[in-house]
Amino acid sequence: MDMDSALEALLSVVGDDLRLVNDAIVARMNSSVALIPQLAGHLITAGGKRLRPLLTLAAARMCGLEDAARPARLAACVEFIHTATLLHDDVVDESMLRRGLESANALWGNKASVLVGDFLFARSFEFMVEDGSLKVIRSLCNATSVIAEGEVLQLMTANDTTTTEDQYMEVIRSKTAALFAAACEVGAQAAGAPEAHEKALYDYGMNLGIAFQLVDDYLDYSARQAELGKTVGDDFMDGKITLPVILVFERGTDEEKAFLRRCLEDQEMEDPKADLARAIQIMAKYDTLGETVTRARDYGARARAALSSFPANPARDALIGIIDYCIDRAH
Ligand code: IPE
Ligand code: IPE
Ligand code: MG
Ligand code: MG
Repeated sequence: MDMDSALEALLSVVGDDLRLVNDAIVARMNSSVALIPQLAGHLITAGGKRLRPLLTLAAARMCGLEDAARPARLAACVEFIHTATLLHDDVVDESMLRRGLESANALWGNKASVLVGDFLFARSFEFMVEDGSLKVIRSLCNATSVIAEGEVLQLMTANDTTTTEDQYMEVIRSKTAALFAAACEVGAQAAGAPEAHEKALYDYGMNLGIAFQLVDDYLDYSARQAELGKTVGDDFMDGKITLPVILVFERGTDEEKAFLRRCLEDQEMEDPKADLARAIQIMAKYDTLGETVTRARDYGARARAALSSFPANPARDALIGIIDYCIDRAH
């Protein structure tokens, strides 16, 4: 299945439900404080793949829930959490481009972005409370605090070229995969699925989220900016220590490692573009970008295995198809 047809398969299962989600999102980003819907609307209407809400909807469907009203509210909640983290993340990363448009911090400044991010977090809590299930609240609140931990942990590993693979994995599990896991888990919870199914969907989401961030970190060195809608090379310029770099520290010569330390640790770029090109050349020599995608495939296989206990149905097939969709972004 190619990428677009994987997404279409998912949309054919839950596309109508996604409309409910988008309606809920637009209704709830409203506020009498004009800057809030203006800034939030800029980011929300810029698109985004809506991957996490789609996961919630499909998970609930796969667990046998036909009525989409409750999962749609939870899916909107999940997208609010995601959107809030994007606003904060772009401030921390000083990113100027998001979803193909100028980032909110580029347009309105850091202060407004942080505060509107807080507003969206608070709105996500309202969605949870309205849903009323303590199980759901526990899952989503846990994911929210774990994301914040992941972002802080990443801040602490930035510019630290001694960062290990284990520390890196902890960062991406926290900052990205935790929300994928919760998005899937609450779909099962909304459907009243047995705990074994909740756990299986959590595992699916966790492994899919890890694969997704591995590919994202690969794309930061290899994508075409226009297709990604984000600035390529940001991770290198910020001194972010991602797997393609860590693997060079495991394999490279002293001279290559000294070069990367100068760029990533000391942030002393002679010519940023040329330095980035040289870094990519070194990564190519040891195929660390290829290996990053190979690892993503391994986690994709684990995500697939997590769904093996569910009977075949269109929602399950769509969730399996989305694994390749996430990984094939690499091509
Ligand atoms: C961006 O997530 C943040 C990461 C975890 C890399 P997405 O790539 O899902 O962002 P949108 O919502 O589609 O813009
Ligand atoms: C993604 O971090 C995780 C969150 C937004 C919490 P990144 O910094 O890698 O994501 P992009 O590249 O800005 O989308
Ligand atoms: Mg970022
Ligand atoms: Mg990134």
